Order: sequence, then structure tokens, then C-alpha cells
Amino acid sequence: MLRSAGILALAVPHSLAVPFVSQATTTFTSAASVTPSVVSVANMTSHGRYTGPVPTTTGALSTSVLASSIPALAAESFKLQYPADGRLHQAQPAPYTPAGGLGTNGTEPVYRVISDFDYESVALALYQEWIELDLFHWGLSTFSTEQFEAAGLHAEERFLLEFMANQEVGHATALTNMLGARAPVQCSYNYPVSDVQEFIDFSQKLTRWGESGVYGFLNHLDSRETAQILLQSITTEARQQMIFRQFGGLFPMPVWFEVGIPQSWAWTLLAPYISSCPANQTRLIWQNFPPLRILNQANSARINGSYVWNETTSAYANSLSTANISSTAGCLHAINGTSNCAPAITQNRTSPLSYAGRQIFLQWDSPGYRTGPNNSYVTSTSAGTPRFAAFVSQLNVTYAPLRGISGNTAYVFQPNSTTYEGDPAINGTVFIAITDDDIAVTPFNLTQINPHVNALAIYQAG
Ligand SMILES: *[C@@H]1O[C@H](CO)[C@@H](O)[C@H](O)[C@H]1NC(C)=O
Ligand SMILES: *[C@@H]1O[C@H](CO)[C@@H](O)[C@H](O)[C@H]1NC(C)=O
Ligand SMILES: *[C@@H]1O[C@H](CO)[C@@H](O)[C@H](O)[C@H]1NC(C)=O
Ligand SMILES: *[C@@H]1O[C@H](CO)[C@@H](O)[C@H](O)[C@H]1NC(C)=O
Ligand SMILES: *[C@@H]1O[C@H](CO)[C@@H](O)[C@H](O)[C@H]1NC(C)=O
Ligand SMILES: *[C@@H]1O[C@H](CO)[C@@H](O)[C@H](O)[C@H]1NC(C)=O
Ligand SMILES: *[C@@H]1O[C@H](CO)[C@@H](O)[C@H](O)[C@H]1NC(C)=O
Ligand SMILES: *[C@@H]1O[C@H](CO)[C@@H](O)[C@H](O)[C@H]1NC(C)=O
Ligand SMILES: *[C@@H]1O[C@H](CO)[C@@H](O)[C@H](O)[C@H]1NC(C)=O
Ligand SMILES: *[C@@H]1O[C@H](CO)[C@@H](O)[C@H](O)[C@H]1NC(C)=O
Ligand SMILES: *[C@@H]1O[C@H](CO)[C@@H](O)[C@H](O)[C@H]1NC(C)=O
Ligand SMILES: *[C@@H]1O[C@H](CO)[C@@H](O)[C@H](O)[C@H]1NC(C)=O
Repeated sequence: MLRSAGILALAVPHSLAVPFVSQATTTFTSAASVTPSVVSVANMTSHGRYTGPVPTTTGALSTSVLASSIPALAAESFKLQYPADGRLHQAQPAPYTPAGGLGTNGTEPVYRVISDFDYESVALALYQEWIELDLFHWGLSTFSTEQFEAAGLHAEERFLLEFMANQEVGHATALTNMLGARAPVQCSYNYPVSDVQEFIDFSQKLTRWGESGVYGFLNHLDSRETAQILLQSITTEARQQMIFRQFGGLFPMPVWFEVGIPQSWAWTLLAPYISSCPANQTRLIWQNFPPLRILNQANSARINGSYVWNETTSAYANSLSTANISSTAGCLHAINGTSNCAPAITQNRTSPLSYAGRQIFLQWDSPGYRTGPNNSYVTSTSAGTPRFAAFVSQLNVTYAPLRGISGNTAYVFQPNSTTYEGDPAINGTVFIAITDDDIAVTPFNLTQINPHVNALAIYQAG
């Protein structure tokens, strides 16, 4: 009954027995077979910094710790043995089916975390989905229609924002299902944001560490099934990140590769914006590094976005402040076409937000400060004396030596590095870590940098 004449006509176009149908018609209705319910979601009415009592449980979740770091080992030789010559080297398990792969032998998929690594990683991603759900709703309800209109975001853009918030309900549901009964729940939050442009820029940066935080661990998960679902949610999140860049009048994707970061980086950047969670909330194992301020972080709300001083609303995210931008210096309503940065599919900037050789002024905190939900986590580092700024972008970690070090401040010059010919490595919304060493790390072993990290921030490179 569900086969329509339109489908039949397409399937056997030359059969004379079938009448020609010029248009498909939708004349059938059928109820969806199952409608899985979503996690319970509340509209958080309270926002702002945590002001409650000093928490009794503090610090990251931990068990017995076996060593201070993971030693670097040689590559496993079997990985170098496959001939990669375009021929088949094993019998096929079935027609059109090459030998190999993980989870390809017909065993039933189990969409469930199966190790501490899986649990802690997916729980971190869930904390991120929850804040995005709240942030997008909060923006919509905090700023008036007039304020959104003035920032160039009209009814259709606001509906897209609402839709993105609803996507988070689905993501939170999928991750909760894979974690089980003690999955982290919604918390309350604080946002360093006072107008629509600041909201869009903060969202653009928050989704950057949300997306990159998952890329960093996805291929290390034990549960391939969990990774599959997470992949299909994080690619949606990647689109959100790009849309926020477009809302902010930035070039949507000025890179050839999206960057991945370690879990502790995503947690470090996320935690300060969580005010409080329920007392029995499941805690996380990840490290909170001290904050880094980019003192001349580019301000994409300015025509001359790289010529700024101290115009961010918080360390860590280092998202833009509009407080001191005069009407002639702002690019939102700039009449000159090349200076204008109103929301658009894509925008060329007249003057770049950053460039190789740019002098960047940095200031970081010492460890030992309270952060995160209920101020119940503590910033820490195991690194020695700060010596480098590691620029983490695309497939690359590029170190620049700290210069003019004075206490917890220094400056660096933005490195001139390339991913592949024609693709400057440092562009878009990237990460800077202060480190004590310039150890070699690549996308699959980036976490090995953690024992060397002194402080962490988002850097607006383009
Ligand atoms: C939360 O607020 C949104 C509007 O911002 C509304 O559409 C939604 O129904 C509310 N949800 C609940 C659970 O109150
Ligand atoms: C990370 O991997 C690269 C090769 O991709 C290797 O050269 C480097 O030594 C590794 N770093 C650590 C700390 O294991
Ligand atoms: C199927 O493959 C998995 C690895 O993906 C392996 O652990 C398992 O033993 C295999 N099962 C069978 C029945 O071959
Ligand atoms: C926390 O407490 C609430 C209320 O008692 C309960 O519904 C929830 O399951 C608990 N969560 C965890 C993770 O134990
Ligand atoms: C931006 O400001 C710098 C410093 O004053 C100046 O050198 C540069 O010409 C300005 N760029 C534009 C496009 O106005
Ligand atoms: C940056 O501005 C804040 C206040 O907006 C001020 O407290 C801080 O000292 C300034 N830092 C620098 C390095 O100018
Ligand atoms: C705005 O500029 C004034 C004067 O230069 C400065 O004191 C203040 O810290 C600036 N505020 C912000 C948020 O940049
Ligand atoms: C537009 O801006 C560019 C770069 O600042 C400048 O060269 C040009 O003269 C401006 N055009 C107008 C019409 O103001
Ligand atoms: C945009 O910038 C690119 C290079 O940065 C340049 O080739 C192109 O002509 C610019 N397009 C416009 C319309 O300004
Ligand atoms: C970043 O990408 C934008 C858009 O393609 C380009 O205009 C800008 O020059 C790039 N910046 C660097 C440092 O390569
Ligand atoms: C960056 O490197 C390229 C290629 O070597 C060179 O053409 C360019 O001048 C360099 N830029 C800076 C600012 O050093
Ligand atoms: C950036 O990463 C690519 C891919 O791993 C590598 O080929 C390239 O050499 C790296 N560039 C730099 C400057 O390290």
C-alpha cells in the first residue's frame, strides 16, 4: 500500500504495463513506528556566576594513578606491513566485501560505552551538549527581536538558532542513552556576553572547542558503535560552528582541516562557564589548566580587527567585547562593502584578523584556582617553566618561543607554518597553549602534550 505510483513509474520507466505518472503525489499517511522520547530538559531560569557554599567534593575524579605520564613508544611494526598496492591480499569474507575493518564481522552492534576512557569522553561531550542547549535558548530569550535585527539576524536566522538548540536535545538524548543512569544532567551556566555580537562570537568559540574536543578522542574510543553515533552528532555540531562564524560575518571555513584537541582542553575551556550542577552530578576525570588571556585577541566586530588591546570578555574563550567599539570602528554597519561584516554566507575581511609575524601578547594565571561547576574543580599543571606558545590548528602543532617573559606575561610572533602547500596552518578559530617544551605531537597523539601545558586559550586567527 505504501508504494506509490510515482515510485513504480521510476523503477520501471520503460514498462508499457505501468501508466506514465508525471508527478508523485503524497496521498498516504502512516504513523511513525516508534518515537523514542528525549531526555528531560528544563529551561534554566538562573544564570550567572556560582555564589553558593564552598563545595565538599573538589578536584577531578581519580583512582590509583600508575605513572606520571604515558611514555612515547615506537610504532607497531604490523602497521607498516600492508603493501598498499591496490591489489587484494586476503580472501573476501563475502561478495564485494574486503577483509579487515573493525566491527565488520556481523556481531550485533552495542551502542554503549565499554571503558573508563569511553565513559569519561562521552560524559564530557554530554556536558558540552547541555551547555549548548542552554546557551542557544538563553541567547534567544535574552536579546530582543530588535537587538537581533540590529545585528543583522532576522526571523529566519533566529529560527535556525532555535533549531540548533533543538538539535542539542537529540544529541543529549543519544549520549545519555549510551552512558546510562548516571549520565551528567543539565547544569546552570554563566556567559560572558552582553549583546548579540558578543553572544554570536562566544557561541562561535564554544562550538569550536565542542567540535574539536570530540575530534580529539573519537578515533580512540573502545566502543566503535558509540563513536558512530557521536560522529553523526558532531558533524551536525560542526555545521553549527560554521553557521555561527557566518552569523559573525567571518569567512566560514578558512582551513582545509578541522582541528582536534585533547579532552582536558575541552573541559578546561568549558568548565568556567558552568556555574553549578546538581549535588550528585557525575564528575569528570579531566584536567583544568590555568587560563590564558590573549591581550590583543583580534576583535572581529571591528573593521581593523587585529588592532586591539584587551577587548575580550573572559580568559579561556577570549571572546570579543563590543564595549569600546565606536560606530565608525565597528564593521557590522560599515557601508564600504569590503569593510562590512554583517552576517553572510561568506565575507572577505579588508584587513586580516591575524597574519604570520603578528606580535601576540599573552598573560596566564598560575595554577591552584577554583573553576567549573560549584567552583569544585581546581586548575593545575605539571609543566615546568613556560617557554613556548603552541599553536594548535588544522593538522599542526607549531611552537613559537615566548619572548619578553615577565612574570606571567610574554609575547610571541605568529608562526608562518603551512599544512600543505597553499594552506597556511594557522587560520580560523584555533588554540594556543603555553608549554614548557616543544615536543613533537601529531593529531593522533596530541594528548601527549598535556604534561607540558601551563595554560590554555582560544585564539582568533581568522
Ligand atoms: C523553553 O523555552 C523555549 C523558548 O525559548 C520554549 O519554546 C520551550 O517550550 C521551553 N521549554 C520548556 C521545557 O519550558
Ligand atoms: C607523536 O607522534 C609523532 C609521529 O606522528 C612522533 O614523532 C612523536 O614522537 C610522538 N610524540 C609523543 C610524545 O609520543
Ligand atoms: C568479530 O570482530 C571483533 C573485532 O571487531 C572480534 O573481537 C570478535 O572476536 C569477532 N567475532 C567473531 C565471531 O569473529
Ligand atoms: C541525583 O538525584 C536525583 C534526585 O534524587 C535523581 O533523580 C538522580 O537520578 C540522581 N542522579 C545521579 C547521577 O545519581
Ligand atoms: C589597522 O591598524 C593598524 C595600526 O594602526 C594600521 O597600521 C593599519 O593600517 C590599519 N588597517 C586598516 C585597514 O585600517
Ligand atoms: C584588561 O582590562 C581589564 C578590565 O576590563 C583590566 O582589569 C585588566 O587589568 C586589563 N589588562 C591589561 C593587561 O590591560
Ligand atoms: C575601554 O576603553 C577604556 C579607555 O581606553 C578602558 O579604560 C577600558 O578598559 C576599555 N574597556 C574595554 C571593555 O575594553
Ligand atoms: C574601502 O576600504 C578600503 C580599505 O580600507 C579602502 O581602500 C577604500 O578606499 C574604501 N572605499 C570607500 C568607498 O570608502
Ligand atoms: C577575497 O579574498 C581573496 C583572497 O584573500 C581574493 O582573491 C578575492 O578577490 C577576494 N574577493 C573579493 C570579492 O573581495
Ligand atoms: C585566513 O583565511 C582568510 C580567508 O581565506 C584569508 O583572507 C586570510 O588571509 C587567511 N589568513 C592567513 C593568516 O592565512
Ligand atoms: C611565510 O612563508 C612564505 C613562504 O616561505 C613567504 O613567502 C612569506 O613571506 C612568509 N611570511 C612571513 C610573514 O614571514
Ligand atoms: C603540518 O601537518 C602536515 C600533516 O601532518 C605536515 O605534513 C606538515 O609538515 C606540518 N607543517 C608544519 C609546519 O609542521
